[in-house]
Amino acid sequence: MDDRLVMAGMRQEDADIEASLRPHHLREYIGQNKVKNSLSIYINAALKRHDALDHMLLYGPPGLGKTTLACIVAAEMGQNIRVTSGPAIERPGDLASILTNLNAGDVLFIDEIHRLSRAVEEVLYPAMEDYALDIMIGKGPTARSMRLDLPKFTLIGATTRAGRLSAPLRDRFGIVFRLEIYTPEELARIVARSAGILGMPYDEDGILEIARRSRGTPRIANRLLKRVRDFAQVRSDGHITAEVARDSLNMQDVDDLGLDRVDRAVLTAMIDKFGGGPVGLDTLAAVTGEDAVTIEDVYEPYLMQLGFLMRTPRGRVCTPAAYEHLGKTPPPPKPDAPASDNEQMQFFD
Ligand code: ADE
Repeated sequence: MDDRLVMAGMRQEDADIEASLRPHHLREYIGQNKVKNSLSIYINAALKRHDALDHMLLYGPPGLGKTTLACIVAAEMGQNIRVTSGPAIERPGDLASILTNLNAGDVLFIDEIHRLSRAVEEVLYPAMEDYALDIMIGKGPTARSMRLDLPKFTLIGATTRAGRLSAPLRDRFGIVFRLEIYTPEELARIVARSAGILGMPYDEDGILEIARRSRGTPRIANRLLKRVRDFAQVRSDGHITAEVARDSLNMQDVDDLGLDRVDRAVLTAMIDKFGGGPVGLDTLAAVTGEDAVTIEDVYEPYLMQLGFLMRTPRGRVCTPAAYEHLGKTPPPPKPDAPASDNEQMQFFD
């Protein structure tokens, strides 16, 4: 079984637990303080005006709580949420059907919104801007367009890649939030909350050990917690101690900084095969057998956050810190690269 830490597909049991641990109100949501503070003002203002909230774009690495936040927005607004995703909306008609079934005030959440086709996006523009659906009746010279009114709704789009969104779509969101990777302290509070919901006794150190190895990501923290729980039930009557957490996570190949075997494979390939880089993303994908988009969206953000990897115009480069973490000796600094044109000009002056 593919048991990677950050795998995209999820086991059903993990998915159920994830859902049961989701906070339902803004006051229960830990971290992302800047987002929460702004959001709370926007929600209160919209409620006072008896109006729908402006359309909102959430972006950032996977697992940081974009879906959770969208559900919280709907709950705080006292409205229903309809959840779908970019790849699920294949044709313009699919979106038209979703939009015409919305009620006033509803929240429509589209995950991976950067994956909507251009034709579907075209339907979304008047829907977002004018709450209207333009449909073509007939074909050829006699075709005419008819405008259908839609209820006033709130679109919440989520993406791991804001740069992939077309400018016209991006510009139609009145509220844009970037979700940040969580600190170990915030993650520890999330893990403690989850352990409480699951009825698991714990030591603070045990919780911190899980938090530290969760790559700044609540989804991973909760998944690790569940696996530590199994270990704790066999080893310590279900009590999460630092030792139980450490042993369980080591056994799962999650190292003390939270790197899993794919992270290590990426770094090891860069170091052993390409002298630490620069190496292109596609080459890295080919030698590790991983998908280039997954490396870019899922693995690299955390490796960059740790200062282990840099993206440069010539490709990815490993830092000396990455060598040290893998117990390898960093190469001596390279002799100076050729001077740039400017520098050469100055030299000849
Ligand atoms: N579970 C997952 N993400 C969470 C968060 N940000 N706050 C509280 N519980 C969570």
